[in-house]
Amino acid sequence: MLVGRSEVMQRLRAQIARLGATHFTVLVTGESGTGKELVARNVHAVSSRARGPFIAVNCAALVESLLEAELFGIEERTATGVKGREGKFELAEGGTLFLDEVGDLSLAAQAKLLRVLQDLSVERVGGRQSRPMDTRIIAATNRPLLERVQQGMFRADLFYRLSGVELVVPPLRERREDVPILVDHLLGRHQRLRRVIAGADVIEALGAFDWPGNVRQLERVLERAVALAPASRLTISDLPSEVLGDYRTMQCEGLERGRSLRAWSSRYARLVLDRCEGNRRRACDELDISYHTLRALLRYGAGASHGDRRASMSAGSPIDGRP
Ligand SMILES: Nc1ncnc2c1ncn2[C@@H]1O[C@H](COP(=O)(O)OP(=O)(O)OP(=O)(O)O)[C@@H](O)[C@H]1O
Ligand SMILES: [Mg+2]
Repeated sequence: MLVGRSEVMQRLRAQIARLGATHFTVLVTGESGTGKELVARNVHAVSSRARGPFIAVNCAALVESLLEAELFGIEERTATGVKGREGKFELAEGGTLFLDEVGDLSLAAQAKLLRVLQDLSVERVGGRQSRPMDTRIIAATNRPLLERVQQGMFRADLFYRLSGVELVVPPLRERREDVPILVDHLLGRHQRLRRVIAGADVIEALGAFDWPGNVRQLERVLERAVALAPASRLTISDLPSEVLGDYRTMQCEGLERGRSLRAWSSRYARLVLDRCEGNRRRACDELDISYHTLRALLRYGAGASHGDRRASMSAGSPIDGRP
């Protein structure tokens, strides 16, 4: 089940539902761990091919010399001792063939794939005749394919053939509102093993992290917590330190006793600015504040004493709302 209450995930589910009725080739793009394979399985499940097989091929793991036999099959006795076998295209007959990491195919392999897509037929290695193909293709990539095309690493004609319908799975840091429901869902998977719940502080800390490995990384972090947590209610100390990074810093330095809301806001603004690699415009967008407000927050605490800071903030630098 594709979980998520964010607007982007709702839109994605609606797109998948609409795609079910078609037979178009689909390209699923997104960073690693965002849920591309799950999206592909959903497209298959809502299509008229749902009863047919879903065959996944990891293109990055295909050995160049065996690639053709793997994808297209090989005839008996093509070489001495070779046993005939079906290729992935044949195995996916009547169903869906999922070409994962399609951006990693060599140029030679891309040419072969293009030929199959153009002819809509497949020929086994050592075979004399081609068979018509009745397979829907869904490809996925976590590398920007268009960039690979521009670098000459990916064939433009294959790109256009694959990318007619593109489904984009956004990274988790762009849909943080999905974190709580994903946590519930992922913890629920281990329910039979151990019933564990996450407290509000855990949800808050998980929501503050940037998740370079996206949902897959969240899944691993929760697995570890389910396995090792001493109590059935997870606490902050059940989370690995890399996940707690920003959250801890903020808590320790921002939530000290006696710290004002301004000190806290200023600290947080610096963290976000750091995360945006010093790009103030992006930091403003993420914080949803004006440029003017950001500057005021950054000025606050910049080497001045506590009293000075207060003075500089009250001298016409609002910390809330856009001017
Ligand atoms: N929206 C979601 N709802 C529920 N589970 C999800 C969601 N997104 C991802 N997952 C889970 O996260 C894990 C990773 O998803 P998936 O394998 O589909 O990602 P991927 O983009 O193909 O990753 P990779 O780039 O590593 O191949 C899977 O266990 C999947 O079930
Ligand atoms: Mg995958």
